[in-house]
Amino acid sequence: MYWEKELETIDRKNLERLQLERLQQTLRQAANSPHYGRIPEIGRYVQSGMASIEQVHALPFTTKEQMRQDFPWGFLAADKKEVVRLHSSSGTTGNPTVVYHNKHDLDSWTNLMARSLFAAGVRDTDVFQNICGYGLFTGGLGFQYGVEKLGCLSIPAGAGNSLRQIKLMRDFGTTVAHVIPSYLGRLFDVFQEEGLDPRKDTQLHTLVIGAEPHTEEHRLRIEAMFGVKAYNSFGLSEMNGPGVAFECAEQNGLHIWEDAYLVEIIDPETLQPVADGQIGELVMTTLDRQAMPVVRYRTRDLTRFLPGACPCGRTHRRIDRISGRSDDMFIIKGCNVFPMQIEGILMKLPEVGEDYRILLETIADQDEMIVEVEVKKEWFKGDLAFLERLQKQITHLVRDEVLVRPRIRLVAAGSIPKAEGKAQRVFDHRKT
Ligand code: COA
Ligand code: AMP
Ligand code: ZN
Repeated sequence: MYWEKELETIDRKNLERLQLERLQQTLRQAANSPHYGRIPEIGRYVQSGMASIEQVHALPFTTKEQMRQDFPWGFLAADKKEVVRLHSSSGTTGNPTVVYHNKHDLDSWTNLMARSLFAAGVRDTDVFQNICGYGLFTGGLGFQYGVEKLGCLSIPAGAGNSLRQIKLMRDFGTTVAHVIPSYLGRLFDVFQEEGLDPRKDTQLHTLVIGAEPHTEEHRLRIEAMFGVKAYNSFGLSEMNGPGVAFECAEQNGLHIWEDAYLVEIIDPETLQPVADGQIGELVMTTLDRQAMPVVRYRTRDLTRFLPGACPCGRTHRRIDRISGRSDDMFIIKGCNVFPMQIEGILMKLPEVGEDYRILLETIADQDEMIVEVEVKKEWFKGDLAFLERLQKQITHLVRDEVLVRPRIRLVAAGSIPKAEGKAQRVFDHRKT
């Protein structure tokens, strides 16, 4: 029933006691890092101790921008020698965000992953195919270690190559797969092109879907197409990656693991806590990380706490599926993109004009990012070879930056409709 009964069903009073203890330990550890070592409030609490977890509200937030500014070592709170792995966001132009782990941190993350998968009904008898980027993406190794700890047969398939994914599923009898939801449409099409039906021609019974927003309707469609139960998995690299919040068998929201994270939901404008049950921005503090503790991290993800106890018996609060972001980041094919990353590339090119826009479309069941780029009059002439070279150059630069191959559409200067007021850069027409 539970992976760690005592911790998963701990009563609120004892949970809060544990959180307070871990929060103080986290602050002591954080104070060793150049970034948090500069913050007087942290120094004060390290000196005086904390009377209750509510005092966390007196601490300043941590943002992605600060992580970028303090790149590469500003958040490191342990001896560099102890660090055994790092994960980093994409990006070749500005500083990426980087997260460090020591052995304890990796064990703790692995355990959270095993706990999450167990809650969704995955067992050591399952064959688990991880269809997700490995390397610096956290979904690869994060799931891998959790699945191995749980004792499943793991297939570290990685992303891409749909035919091979299907062959692996059929050859080894995959019963559970972790897949980014927007890719499942494409995968289903390939099943059909091969004359196969995943409901009959595989042993899949469970899909773990996450890493990008999706609706309840999308989940239901996935469940029907594949004949499975699909469970929502939420996480972010700054908080390890997957294994932060996960649906249990009840599929009624995601338990957020409160022994490992102190969770707040704030109004992104006023930065004050929202009323219980209201949607706001998720703010998280790590409670069990040593190499890189993070205090009050503004995730920019919008959600709310769900009311009531879960029939599964787990006492960790549930959050609703992520309903949006409080910044302009979007996710395509499981890759995070900030429009400014694309703008940064375009504006360095002398041939590029004033305007551009990003269209997100679903074409033949695959999500695609189309970037319309205005080219200055003097360059937008009949020289097709030149324009083709420019298009290729932009494609490569964007692909290197955000890890997804864009479709670049070069257009004449002035042809992108001007918005009144603030320019809208991203037009999301994807089918969900
Ligand atoms: N997951 C797995 N495979 C995907 C995918 C996704 N989200 N999106 C597309 N693919 C497949 C495509 O179907 C194609 O395979 P096929 O032709 O055999 O069907 C192959 O990957 C390449 O697709 P393409 O559209 O040319 O991709 P791209 O060059 O724009 O992007 C990806 C390359 C898909 C490999 C890259 O976007 C990626 O690594 N995505 C996964 C990110 C991830 O794992 N995020 C989770 C973080 S926790
Ligand atoms: P990364 O740090 O690259 O793993 O990306 C983390 C971001 O992906 C989160 O901050 C969310 O915006 C998004 N994300 C991850 N899981 C989910 C999910 N289940 N639903 C919606 N968005 C998600
Ligand atoms: Zn539950």
